[in-house]
Amino acid sequence: MKILGINAYHANASAALVIDGQLVTAVEEERFNRVKYAAGFPVNAIRHCLAEVGLTLQEIDHVAIPRNPWARLATKLFYAVRMPRFTLDRFRAMKQFKGIHEDLAAACDVDPKAIRAQLHRIEHHVAHLASAFFVSPFDRAAVLSTDGLGDFASTMWATGEGNRLKVHGAVAFPHSLGLYYTALSQYLGFWKFGDEYKVMGLAAYGEPTHVEEFRRIVKADGGKGFALGLQYFCHHRTGPEMTWQENGKTPVLGQLFSPYLEERLGKTRTADEPVGKKHQDIAASMQAVLEEAYFRLLNQLHQTTRQSQACLAGGVAFNCVANGKIFDNTPFSQVYVQPAAGDAGLAVGAAYYVYHQILGQPRSFVMDHAYWGPQFTPEAIAQALENGRTKVSSLGVRKLSDEELVCATAKHIADGKIVGWFQGRAEWGPRALGNRSILVDPRRAEMKDILNQRIKRRETFRPFAPSIREEATGQFFERSHPSPFMNLAYSVRPEKRAIIPAPTHVDGTGRLQTVSRQTNPRYWALIKEFEKLTGVPVLLNTSFNENEPIVLTPQEAINCFLRTRMDVLVLGNYVVEKPLLASPPGEATAAGARLGNAG
Ligand SMILES: [Fe+2]
Repeated sequence: MKILGINAYHANASAALVIDGQLVTAVEEERFNRVKYAAGFPVNAIRHCLAEVGLTLQEIDHVAIPRNPWARLATKLFYAVRMPRFTLDRFRAMKQFKGIHEDLAAACDVDPKAIRAQLHRIEHHVAHLASAFFVSPFDRAAVLSTDGLGDFASTMWATGEGNRLKVHGAVAFPHSLGLYYTALSQYLGFWKFGDEYKVMGLAAYGEPTHVEEFRRIVKADGGKGFALGLQYFCHHRTGPEMTWQENGKTPVLGQLFSPYLEERLGKTRTADEPVGKKHQDIAASMQAVLEEAYFRLLNQLHQTTRQSQACLAGGVAFNCVANGKIFDNTPFSQVYVQPAAGDAGLAVGAAYYVYHQILGQPRSFVMDHAYWGPQFTPEAIAQALENGRTKVSSLGVRKLSDEELVCATAKHIADGKIVGWFQGRAEWGPRALGNRSILVDPRRAEMKDILNQRIKRRETFRPFAPSIREEATGQFFERSHPSPFMNLAYSVRPEKRAIIPAPTHVDGTGRLQTVSRQTNPRYWALIKEFEKLTGVPVLLNTSFNENEPIVLTPQEAINCFLRTRMDVLVLGNYVVEKPLLASPPGEATAAGARLGNAG
């Protein structure tokens, strides 16, 4: 049984292949076309899925699409009359879905009539719920999906049991925690699609001084958990206006907040205006009220389901700060958030919904790691190095044994070098989890600035994340519940904060990745070796990129290494080193950066 899941005509376009209940591969289109959050039809991702196992499109039995134009038809018709432009956009989207056979056939260069796969349209949030539960380690769980908007709903909750999902309720347009967060991010001057996580980072600097006002923006609402104070918004009058840039690949969301929000909170921050205390406090208030609504939803869900495990999906499930507090604010004792909790994950969710809920097949798969993307052979890596020979050879390329590689890399990191680490299969989801990562010494407080000056060039208030050897989690963090996909933030133990200052955020938390020996033995061994050298079982791990989607191919890794002031590149078993560069005035040297108190 071969099922192809496709998230198409929507941001975070992606494809996933499930064969006999086992996930074979899953990847976002952005990794191929190099457009962040790419929408449109995931031609390259689909081609990769088929090529990975040498299948043709004609051999696929089912195609699952996470969108159902007929879902919530009554609500859609109600708003269709009020929002003609939005309705026209929806109509165009529906027309695109009618052409899915043709687009699939064109992507794979076959005659549309040759496709024998059955097409399934799965409602957006149902696919989110499926993406959270059907690949979780739990046989039973409460399941929650919360995001901006999909098929005219923003939130849906269910009980998952075995191979079934039972949906209990939903919150329909225009009420949406995702749109709330996006609207306030816009107000704070962060307009780019996907910028919400920046505001989550900013929130840690502020005090929630506007909570009372924000409780009118997101109100508690009995059985639904929340309702928006619609006077603060305009999307319910005009529809969330989505336009597309870069040949229709990048989504741009129009203004969601109304003039009333500015009346209440003051003028919006312009993009070039410095971020001040007021903005920090507004971000903190926004985050605090999001958490209140999120925990209300989860507590109600617990009352309905009486489960102690929760599976979460939707864009809001990327709010690692809120996720990390679930244990203290709800009765849930275990939480699972798969690595592509946002819309890319719909491809996996739709495919598994077809396999279990529609076809009635039993569960046999757990997503316990994120390494489902493309991989490259040692020969392909060697070829990429050969292609860049004129530039790379002067730097010296060494091929090391596994053991030598881990020892040499750990030493580079401990010596204060910035190391690009490219191994195995690319990560599924937006986080680099030790296969397409830039790694540095977490003990050096200056590393945050050095990374920003040399490579990342991102807002200085954004935190960097720690990867920790799974077994040591409780020694450094106040919780040890696994966080393999960097979707939970915990407090770093107060006595450890000075030991790992670089990935400890201003509020003392870290958005950690717990690294398991079973699921990524090479990355685990690297952390262990670093621990041998320094006494610290933690690395600072940031994505291998420079303001672009995470690198996918060895060539992209080499280009990023050469383009930036990265010191060392580790590609499979090959190591490339740059000579130590003189630092420009005003920049701390990586190798000379002051060490925290090693412990
Ligand atoms: Fe979604």
